[in-house]
Amino acid sequence: MSVRARERSPLRRGTVPTLVGVTVYLDHAATTPVRPEVAERYAEELSRVGNPSSLHTAGRDARRRLEEAREQLAAAVGAEPAEVIFTSGGTEADNLAVKGGYWARRGADDGLRTVAVSAIEHPAVLETAEWLAAHDGADLVRLRVDSDGVLDLGHLEALLGRGGVAVVSVMWTNNEIGVVQPLEQVVHLAHAAGVPVHSDAVQAVGHVTVHFALSGLDAMSLSGHKLGAPVGTGALVARRSFALTPVEHGGGQERGVRSGTLAVAGARALALAVELAVAEQEAEEARLSRLRDRLVTAVREKVDRVALTGPALTGSGRTGPVPAGPASAVPMGQGRHPGIAHLTIEGADADALLLGLDMAGIAASSGSACHAGVQQASHVLVAMGRDEELARSALRFSLGRTTTEEDVDAVVAALPGVVENARRAHAARHRPARRPGVPDDAAARGSVVAQGGAA
Ligand SMILES: Cc1ncc(COP(=O)(O)O)c(C=O)c1O
Repeated sequence: MSVRARERSPLRRGTVPTLVGVTVYLDHAATTPVRPEVAERYAEELSRVGNPSSLHTAGRDARRRLEEAREQLAAAVGAEPAEVIFTSGGTEADNLAVKGGYWARRGADDGLRTVAVSAIEHPAVLETAEWLAAHDGADLVRLRVDSDGVLDLGHLEALLGRGGVAVVSVMWTNNEIGVVQPLEQVVHLAHAAGVPVHSDAVQAVGHVTVHFALSGLDAMSLSGHKLGAPVGTGALVARRSFALTPVEHGGGQERGVRSGTLAVAGARALALAVELAVAEQEAEEARLSRLRDRLVTAVREKVDRVALTGPALTGSGRTGPVPAGPASAVPMGQGRHPGIAHLTIEGADADALLLGLDMAGIAASSGSACHAGVQQASHVLVAMGRDEELARSALRFSLGRTTTEEDVDAVVAALPGVVENARRAHAARHRPARRPGVPDDAAARGSVVAQGGAA
């Protein structure tokens, strides 16, 4: 690329890449823009050749660059290089930890059949555990959470007391509502019973303090496209003592548990993105928390019957005070993800809200899956005891590195009108059937679509 062309490239214009077609992007938990420095490193690597398993000079050079990335990633998250297993993303890392951990433990002792996961895990963990239960004799236990989404430690403790637990998996921060789980206590309880613990840290790295060694975890998953690296990059960080049975078989790469030619470009892009995200984490956590609080407070002022899901806002947004001493240097279970604001808006359907926001140029999410165009009630909200109707009226704004005050102001300006329209559409859909001869004055007022337009 020529210098002039590079200056014109969106990746070169300041630090915020241009998001084509989106005015206000508040769906960073779904995926966040690739950082310009990372895109540059990735592109640079793509121009090289060499399989890290080859013996020639190009292969040895690729191996050296790969191992540098492993060291860089490990240092950023408080792990040893040998603990890093590169994967294609968070889903693969979760599958390897849950299936691989279960198979290895059960292989050593056939009585270890229980897979215990929190009821609000991402499908990458939940569906994996369900698959083991349906096809491989596992006894799946969904650990309860309270009305804020915080894990019920009493349930875990009682389960561990019964014995037979192969593996425990509890996410670090939840992707829908942003609650941070009490991992310190989870690890303490599980280890006292001799049970390994995996955590899906996909939404934690770069957002809250993450230090693998201090966490005491046996394994944790991370994903590149949630922190500024390309989609298709990720890692499982796993202690050498955490036995894993391979999920994929082949050339025996990555300690023999994750076969497949190693993606050097992806690994290097991931390692740089993790390093940068972790270096900026404390400042970003404070900045995003302020923006999130401002968003939630302003929306509550302007729209009635709106509720924030999960623990109360913490003001500064810190995930809790950082007490002295290395063992407690990682605050866990005391707060929420700084960039996730999950709201339920009574009397409005998520799909109408999302469409209205989209028409106003704002990209948000309901936080949960939409199957065949129909918004499903989130399993997270249902596990928290919300009724299904309210669970279908969820809106998740997830803020990230490129989010500005103007983005928040745009939401606050657009949302009241969007909610009004969505509520009218909801009311029209749920209006009792018209009886013959009885005038329907509501129908005479016209449908939302007929009236059209967000305020
Ligand atoms: C908590 C959590 N775990 C796992 C995943 C899956 O990660 P990936 O998209 O890299 O497979 C996601 C993605 O949404 C997530 O939010």
